[in-house]
Amino acid sequence: MLCEQHFFELYKREPQDVAFCPYRICPIGAHSDHQYGKVTGLAIDKGIYLAYSPKQNGIVELCSLQFDKRAQWHIAGVPAVKQDDWADYLRGATLELGRRYPLSKGLSGVIEGTLPIGGLSSSAAVTLVFLKALCAVNNISPEPLEIIRMAVTVENSYVGVSSGKLDQSCEIFCRKDKLLYLDTMDDSYELIPAPSGMKPYEIAIFFSGVERTLAGSKFNMRVDECRSAAYALKAFSGIEYGKFGETHLRDVPVEVFEQYKDRLPESWRKRAGHWYSEFDRVKKGAEAWRKGDIEEYGRLSFASGWSSIYNWETGSDELKTLYDIMTRTEGIYGGRFSGAGFKGCCMALIDPAFRESIQAKVEAGYIAAFPALKDKYRSVICQSADGIIL
Ligand code: GLA
Repeated sequence: MLCEQHFFELYKREPQDVAFCPYRICPIGAHSDHQYGKVTGLAIDKGIYLAYSPKQNGIVELCSLQFDKRAQWHIAGVPAVKQDDWADYLRGATLELGRRYPLSKGLSGVIEGTLPIGGLSSSAAVTLVFLKALCAVNNISPEPLEIIRMAVTVENSYVGVSSGKLDQSCEIFCRKDKLLYLDTMDDSYELIPAPSGMKPYEIAIFFSGVERTLAGSKFNMRVDECRSAAYALKAFSGIEYGKFGETHLRDVPVEVFEQYKDRLPESWRKRAGHWYSEFDRVKKGAEAWRKGDIEEYGRLSFASGWSSIYNWETGSDELKTLYDIMTRTEGIYGGRFSGAGFKGCCMALIDPAFRESIQAKVEAGYIAAFPALKDKYRSVICQSADGIIL
């Protein structure tokens, strides 16, 4: 591993361990976790490695092969507010773990991400891999659910993104060739095996070449739009409502949405429309997978992608173009933007027999539309994988 080599060059000794956390995809269930929806997901065999050794003096000292600046803090002296760089997730994680358990040791580490950033939830993966290492050096073994909660709190409260628990749950609970079917309301989940008669599949990731945008704040705005819709629907229908920040679309039955949706502003109606239709697709998708009908699961994933473009109104021109090409490419069962949809990549479930023709066709179509991104575009074929081993 590059991170091991780099660790050796920096510290002139081998790291004590190398921890790994996979990335995730969510073919159906996007933009629903923050409203306590249901999701389906898979972890993939690419992710983030952290080569590390304990530091007895309590210092955390990290560098990333993807970013320039090194980062350093003491386990008892994490800045109370974020510093607006890549290490914020890990500062927040130190703070969160330290709130729950006594920490005595820090660590020195080198982080290596194996794919470009954006859409595969590298932020959750780096948080989880770091939490695993910091727990190991301090002899702490929290339950998986507690680790998920800590990582979500880091993202919500320290970094300031109103995300749900989809990413962390997939990266922890997933198992190879089993579809995670999770209810984010109560954390109940099922790992649905791919039945033996199911057609073979692989996971293709198509990177747009756009890794960073300034659109991040729109994510929080979408969450607020959903909350506003839920609050208004409760008020229209006489459902008791409590605090605004504790309101979710999951509290409002779909019949209430159908009855009162015309009174909502168009944008709120669309966001809620996405959520209710995604809730339905997730249930249908889980049943399709259970039956081994990957073609139906794929169609539902394409429908999910369509709803993310037209109802959730996300997706850059680059991602929409990739999605559009995917829908016209033979051998792709289905797919959509991966992640929040403002940057990064599209994922597709593909028939391995068409692997080469799919990669060639998507690349040719994309580069014809965005010639300037020729050197940045990339496609990668992945397999489903186990979540992080805690
Ligand atoms: C990001 C968030 C998740 C989820 C997805 C969209 O990855 O972190 O919580 O909302 O976007 O489905």
